[in-house]
Amino acid sequence: VADGAVEGFLRQRLAVLFPTDTVIGEEGGGAASDAVWIIDPIDGTSNFARGDRNWCISIGFLSNRVPTIGVVAAPALDELYVAQRGQGATLNGRGIAVSGAEDLKRACVELGWSTRIPSERYLAIVQRCHAAGCSVKRSGSGTLGLCHVANGRTDAYAELHINAWDVAAGIVVAGEAGASINDFFAGDGIGDGNPILCSTPALAPRFREITGIP
Ligand code: IPD
Ligand code: CA
Repeated sequence: VADGAVEGFLRQRLAVLFPTDTVIGEEGGGAASDAVWIIDPIDGTSNFARGDRNWCISIGFLSNRVPTIGVVAAPALDELYVAQRGQGATLNGRGIAVSGAEDLKRACVELGWSTRIPSERYLAIVQRCHAAGCSVKRSGSGTLGLCHVANGRTDAYAELHINAWDVAAGIVVAGEAGASINDFFAGDGIGDGNPILCSTPALAPRFREITGIP
């Protein structure tokens, strides 16, 4: 019910503000275009449903397929991330930047998980991270996972398959905060989703090896 209500509200407001743009939402679908808003009304749904505060509303905008605006609101945490391509990223109005971590042994990576990927593939990556001396967590919101790389709470976020509405905003937030991110929107990333890998620039080559995400 909450998912539907938030998406309905966002669609209504976007239609008034940007009547010629298209909207793709997790609940209602939609069509891509040269000016498309990609929204997840509640990311971290299972956290939301269980009273865990780690959930958010994600609004991304792609101009000619280029991720250009990202707004992520986490009301229960009183946190608002805002980023625009070339303009930097903020959390509650203050500039944010990635941690700058260079050493895997001191790094913390969030590995997103869903039933879309066989657990053997997920667990193999967990094992490779542990073997490299890196701590692993999972917090249940892919969008906030990217935002947490952006503000240095973690050093990397990886997931073998994720949908565009989970990452469209977070990619802009993390990219503007200095993260290295794979070409998520390659192919039909908007329609089918893709793997996501986001990390500090120094750790990107090692996480590419560990996850197999190019
Ligand atoms: C999910 C969350 C989760 C991620 C999954 C997503 P939902 O979205 O972002 O952290 O690992 O891939 O599907 O179901 O909470 O909107
Ligand atoms: Ca989601």
